[in-house]
Amino acid sequence: MDIALHVNIDHVATLRQARGTNYPDPVEAALIAERAGAHGITAHLREDRRHVNDRDVRVLREVVRGTFNLEMAATEEMLAIALATVPDHVTLVPERREERTTEGGLDVLSHREHIRRIVGALNDRGIRVSLFIAPSRSQIDASKEVGAVQIELHTGDYAHARPHDRASHLKSLADGAAHARAFGLRVAAGHGLTLENVGQVTAIRECVELNIGHAIVSDAVISGFDGAVRAMLEAIRRGRASA
Ligand code: PXP
Repeated sequence: MDIALHVNIDHVATLRQARGTNYPDPVEAALIAERAGAHGITAHLREDRRHVNDRDVRVLREVVRGTFNLEMAATEEMLAIALATVPDHVTLVPERREERTTEGGLDVLSHREHIRRIVGALNDRGIRVSLFIAPSRSQIDASKEVGAVQIELHTGDYAHARPHDRASHLKSLADGAAHARAFGLRVAAGHGLTLENVGQVTAIRECVELNIGHAIVSDAVISGFDGAVRAMLEAIRRGRASA
């Protein structure tokens, strides 16, 4: 396969944090994802630690066999963690406390010098840097200029568009991917991709990596529900029988 799937395990951690338990463990989900054939694991360590935490990042670094991609904001705190952890890839994303998820692409153009310094520090440690951006030529050009080797095109607008608007969003993604590739950048894509809308993105031949989380975690919850209820009934029956 010439397109890699990196599974984002953030929302397994969201479920854990909802109860403050030690399950479900995103590390266990990562191992299952790799056994199922995923080429890598993506985790977003947010400033507020609302889902993935520092321990998850350390353990993921140890156990992930494929590519470990750490998503993070371009802050000094996150830079220090990345330099200490040394993931294979870092994806720099914009982050606002009040957002539910990463809402827009990184504005590389306006924060060129800051991002150049962070990218440089990561590159010096041998970490490949990807920038999560909208498919705009100016952002793509700025990404190359600050030293990134990869961009991740934000597919959120495409994924959330009404059916009749999808084609134009897809065209922007395809044009952005072609421009970036011609410029020597590796191209990834992600955000909001589902079983239903992923197919058309795979038609963009320049795109060699997809980062997908919410849909996979959601499908796992629904498809695993029947078995989970049956397992609980069995445990109840066994308990009663031995009482
Ligand atoms: N790529 C990036 C940079 C992201 O921030 C996210 C969301 O955390 C994803 C991909 C995955 O998006 P989704 O969870 O909608 O599949």
